[in-house]
Amino acid sequence: MFKLEPMNFNFSTVKGITEDQLMQHYKLYSGYVKKLNELWNFPVDARKYGEGNSTYSNMRSLKLGETYALDGITLHQLYFENICNSFKKPYGEILNLITRDFKSFENFKEYLTNVGLSMRGWAILVIDPIDNKLHIIGSDAHDVGALWNCYPLLVMDVYEHAYFIDFQTDRKKYIQIFIENINWKIVNERLEKYYLIKSTLNNLRCFGNNSICPIWYI
Ligand SMILES: [Fe+2]
Repeated sequence: MFKLEPMNFNFSTVKGITEDQLMQHYKLYSGYVKKLNELWNFPVDARKYGEGNSTYSNMRSLKLGETYALDGITLHQLYFENICNSFKKPYGEILNLITRDFKSFENFKEYLTNVGLSMRGWAILVIDPIDNKLHIIGSDAHDVGALWNCYPLLVMDVYEHAYFIDFQTDRKKYIQIFIENINWKIVNERLEKYYLIKSTLNNLRCFGNNSICPIWYI
């Protein structure tokens, strides 16, 4: 039986966002975990779902709920993790890449803020093996605008539920506080993992094994 437990986060280390706001947000995340636990214990017997139909069918409901819950869990875990604890000043390799790909840290903050104001769900800093550069992706919902092969480095939730208790309609102020709380150590660690995965796959290809994760062909 599949059973996932919600992760724990130290919300007392976040400055400028109240624990009440963060705990209400955490309840939503826990709800996605609960629903995924239900979804991933459903039987895989195809005939139990009746005939598939893209307007409405039992299978369609299951599949839409599955991606929504699963992406909701992943994105919220990354989001909570990258605003908790210390290391609030950018440094190291991620700062080098930001300067390289966004010209300056100030411009990066403005660009991230603009994406956050323009989307209804998420702004996500990723690195993609196609060009090995940073990109900020905008998404209107957990399961909309997902990219399958890029690696998430920094996740910002811009749903109203992420800030409305503390900031009401002032999303720009919330984004400013979010940026001040970014845990750059976590972001650097994610970048290191990306490099490790990439070099491991490249080494495997040295032995002629092109069947492993063929999309990562760079
Ligand atoms: Fe959220």
